[in-house]
Amino acid sequence: MKNTKFIVKTKSKSYPIYFGNEILYLSGSLIKKNLPGVKKICIITDKKLPNVILKKLIKSLKKYEIKIFKLNSIERIKSFKVANNLAENLLKNNFDRSDCVIALGGGILGDLSSFVASITKRGLKFINIPTTLLSQVDSSIGGKTAINSNQGKNLLGTFYQPDFVLSDISTLKSLPKREMICGYGEILKHALIADKKFFLWLSKNAKWLINHRDSKILKYSIIQSCKIKAKIISSDEKEKNLRMILNFGHTFAHGFEGTKNFSKSLNHGEAVLLGMMMAIQFSFEKKILPLKDLISIAKHYHALNLPINIKKIFKKNKINKIVYFAKKDKKNLNGKINLILLKKIGRASKPNEFPISVGEFKKFLVSRWK
Ligand SMILES: NC(=O)c1ccc[n+]([C@@H]2O[C@H](COP(=O)([O-])OP(=O)(O)OC[C@H]3O[C@@H](n4cnc5c(N)ncnc54)[C@H](O)[C@@H]3O)[C@@H](O)[C@H]2O)c1
Repeated sequence: MKNTKFIVKTKSKSYPIYFGNEILYLSGSLIKKNLPGVKKICIITDKKLPNVILKKLIKSLKKYEIKIFKLNSIERIKSFKVANNLAENLLKNNFDRSDCVIALGGGILGDLSSFVASITKRGLKFINIPTTLLSQVDSSIGGKTAINSNQGKNLLGTFYQPDFVLSDISTLKSLPKREMICGYGEILKHALIADKKFFLWLSKNAKWLINHRDSKILKYSIIQSCKIKAKIISSDEKEKNLRMILNFGHTFAHGFEGTKNFSKSLNHGEAVLLGMMMAIQFSFEKKILPLKDLISIAKHYHALNLPINIKKIFKKNKINKIVYFAKKDKKNLNGKINLILLKKIGRASKPNEFPISVGEFKKFLVSRWK
């Protein structure tokens, strides 16, 4: 399979994403080419990642002084405490601005490591090597770094674009099916908000992606998905307006994840899939989305066995808690919930086009149990 390079352009920085199968071995030469000043590299990685992935990366970095931190990839590590420990270690080991942090893992590791890279000495070099489908199609692009607060998820962070991203499809071989479905949720989101043709293509091919991990289908969907996200962030890097459409389904999702205490019983991608379905039903009930589109999307969910029914996941007495966490979403304004809705397959509503009162939001949730 041919390797592909794609440039993400933002106001603050342009950077390449390299896509391919078995391309980890290129890491060293890509650092030499893109970041010739690097001497020290800190790899922050996931304890649960198959060792062979880390070994391949280390093998390609022979010329560099390497420090490795292996962490347990759970939401709790996206914290000031862990970020501070990592930053202190970098300082103790005399990392300077020309040196580099590599995140090797999923979105949790990427969010945390990029945050650390952005605050240490006001910015070290940063490379993201995402190893989950979700991080390859979504979290590794766009420069949002994040840690969690007691008040909610991803409420602390910076915008910090990576120097490059290396997406190696072969790392997905060991990914549990549940995580493949989570990543698929973000691919589907990109198609729904921006590209009907891609949605129709996914309707034919998604089974091959999730169940068989067909590398051609995977590569096409990852690149297509990254292109959609890159186009959006290049016009609105700091999420002042258009970028908020990437939040489609996420306000509900934050409510769901918070209610489950950010536990693995409902992970981020599953919460987003269910959240998108809620936003789709809401759009239909507000007469914004036509019935035929609702039916096509529901068919897609059923065919792939995606989470569609809130009643199977939450008891009715959790509604207040869901509303409590959804209200904390960063995109809300003037006490209203800023829901991104769907106008048709391939087109989302504009940010702030449909501010929803908390009462209406709650009433919609209550009506799911009728
Ligand atoms: N910054 C952004 O723009 C952005 C966007 C979307 C999501 N996020 C964040 O991303 C996080 C979710 O990311 P995620 O779903 O990648 O979660 P994750 O990092 O927890 O990875 C999911 C699971 O897969 C395992 N894993 C990772 N790579 C593997 C591999 N190759 N083989 C086998 N197992 C592997 C991990 O150990 C973990 O158990 C959340 O914290 C979310 O807030 C950030």
